[in-house]
Amino acid sequence: MTDRYAVIGNPIAHSLSPRLHAEFARQCGQDIRYEAILAPADGFADAVQAFRRAGGKGVNVTVPFKVAALELADRHSERARMARAVNTLKFDDDGIFGDNTDGVGLVTDIRDRLGVDIDGRRVLVLGAGGAARGVVLPLLEAGASSLIIANRTPERAVELIAPYGVRAGLHAGGFGMLGKHEFDIVINATSASLSDQGLPLPSGVFAAGSLAYDMVYGKGTTRFLADASAQGAALCCDGLGMLVAQAAESFRLWRGVMPDIAPVMAMMQHA
Ligand code: ATR
Repeated sequence: MTDRYAVIGNPIAHSLSPRLHAEFARQCGQDIRYEAILAPADGFADAVQAFRRAGGKGVNVTVPFKVAALELADRHSERARMARAVNTLKFDDDGIFGDNTDGVGLVTDIRDRLGVDIDGRRVLVLGAGGAARGVVLPLLEAGASSLIIANRTPERAVELIAPYGVRAGLHAGGFGMLGKHEFDIVINATSASLSDQGLPLPSGVFAAGSLAYDMVYGKGTTRFLADASAQGAALCCDGLGMLVAQAAESFRLWRGVMPDIAPVMAMMQHA
């Protein structure tokens, strides 16, 4: 019997997830159907439960429901608990399991596709909203020697790292704290690129040979990436690869088989 999955969000019409999962299923010979579900702002839990009652096996969760998904799940992975956000729900006999594959998707894209080491590197994450939350633990686990979270509203950055306690190399604050520090990997997790806005980064943030990574995708060269290139970043990249890799991790959680990301990434880049 065909197993059903879905992505739930608001808005959802432009989600690439149905296409990604259809491609993974074809590649792995898995009999699944994957659809996009629009839930009203106050109707996330109802939409999930209705899908589950209809035989659904799991869902991806996107904006603005990742915190609601954390609350709905009965059990969580450590990375979801630390991120305080869930992007993947799996339904089983014990209830609803919540995971967060965003951060591992980012790490996989940086390390495996772009060939940039994270181990021993100085990493800067810009932003302290939903997109930033998911990536802290996976970046630490990947061996970043230092991880700085800088946000327009400094208190949000400080709050974001609070669950990690005092940890060598992990700091948070406003953009002003960046001073003369330089980084090997600079990740834009703010939503500034969505409205074509730049960020007030001091010159010298980008170390020689550094990577600038914008989590936004489908926007071409964003202001952040253009500024990064002008300020000396060697490699500038948008977030399409992270999207594909987080989807592959969700697929693995549900189906127990890891799809080959590279051909799907190539297909999306040419689309
Ligand atoms: P998301 O889930 O996409 O992360 P969010 O929770 O609303 O969305 O967070 C948006 C992030 O982008 C925040 O870190 C926000 O900074 P503030 O916490 O100070 O609001 C950041 N952001 C959005 N527009 C920005 C801009 N023009 N300059 C700097 N930071 C911006």
